[in-house]
Amino acid sequence: MGPLHGFDSDRAAPAGDPATPPARASRGLLIERAGAVATFAGGLRRGASQRDPATIPGPGLSVACWEGRILAAGTAGEVERRIIEAGHPRDAFERIDAAGGLVTPGLIDAHTHLVFAGSREAEWQLRAGGAGYLEILAAGGGILSTVAATRAAPDEELESGARRRLDEMLAHGTTTAEAKSGYGLNVATELRLLSVLGRLGRRGPVRLLPTFLGAHAVPAEFRGRPDAAGAYVSNVIEEQLPAVAEQGIARFCDVFCEAGVFDTDQSRRILSAARDLGLGIRLHADELAPSGGAELAAELGCLSADHLAAPSEAGIDALARSARSGRPVVATLLPATSWFLAKHHFAPARRLIDAGVPVAIATDLNPGTSPTVSLQLAMSVACLELGLTAAEALAGCTVNAAHALGLGSEIGSIEPGKGADLVVWDVPNLEQIPYWLGSNLVRAVARAGAVVVSRP
Ligand code: NIG
Ligand code: FE
Repeated sequence: MGPLHGFDSDRAAPAGDPATPPARASRGLLIERAGAVATFAGGLRRGASQRDPATIPGPGLSVACWEGRILAAGTAGEVERRIIEAGHPRDAFERIDAAGGLVTPGLIDAHTHLVFAGSREAEWQLRAGGAGYLEILAAGGGILSTVAATRAAPDEELESGARRRLDEMLAHGTTTAEAKSGYGLNVATELRLLSVLGRLGRRGPVRLLPTFLGAHAVPAEFRGRPDAAGAYVSNVIEEQLPAVAEQGIARFCDVFCEAGVFDTDQSRRILSAARDLGLGIRLHADELAPSGGAELAAELGCLSADHLAAPSEAGIDALARSARSGRPVVATLLPATSWFLAKHHFAPARRLIDAGVPVAIATDLNPGTSPTVSLQLAMSVACLELGLTAAEALAGCTVNAAHALGLGSEIGSIEPGKGADLVVWDVPNLEQIPYWLGSNLVRAVARAGAVVVSRP
């Protein structure tokens, strides 16, 4: 483990796996005949190490898991010896044939808005005609149209829609996901969204980390007041946050910090209050224009600053300083969003990596700006538009995403003792994952040592 490995333990939200681990067919799992194993062992990636997948070259590799944790990875002989040393009976292992495919850690999607009702294809067409994203929001559409649909939807509908997306995420290799509320914007509906996330997490097999995003937009009923945003921020701090903390499902709090939405003072007040209540903190930062978000994330020591499509120079410097301090804020970049918004300007990923900032890649799954469940697609866009190598992008969806969620010591790499969340790919090397644009290349997925996806 790298020296940074323990850095997130004191900033993480309450411990404990909110997901019910899936029932295993047997105590052990043995993946055989892997062509290569990209372990991402060795801790958080940043700077030059972002492109180091710590690959064990094959062919003929095995990965063994025991009771939900990684036991060993290496040549078939090495892994066999480790099983014998550990005294585990050979017939206690379920076997998977990787058929020469690559094995990686399970993918981790560190930024999603999983639970919502409705869809926004009409708004997408409006944007094609020149309307701006914030302009549509200011006119009561955008996020607010999803809020109206979500408030009106019964719990069962919210849950079944989110479950369908979650199942698709899993089929595409995602074994852990962060998931935000933020389409309720009042106490009752925000708690309802978090309850849905709590139920989906307990159902498993995807491990879900719920985030409270009450400060996603100012809701319609507050607009028209003299200080609408200020009044709503007070509501978030005084009514929503205490109720969310008491409910106990959310692990993190997030704010959409953006010029024209919530400013840095408002964001700071909300996140400070959230931290005082024991929640981990993260931030939508500088998605559309330099808004002081990166600076604020560094100042507060957020686990993650997300988007960063338009950070200021001072913001990049602040993140670089936080990385040097040994308590780095992970830059969680969401390139599918800039792409879907047809922004033609993307997060300065190369500059962030060169400045030593650890980079994660996530989908931002949501109905307005990124209607995709696929981290494979997000990685492809990261390679094409952010200029990342395949290894850098995959580090961003595994080990660095784990750190962005405060789970760096638990998941995100293939190392003895870590959670046995794994993907067996239908391709022999990691470069091919973002290369085959739009294909689902997953052959099998294991979560906590149980085979939960197996495709012919
Ligand atoms: O990350 N920017 C704020 N939130 C989402 C979009 C939500 C929406 O448009 O519904 C995002 O892009
Ligand atoms: Fe988002």
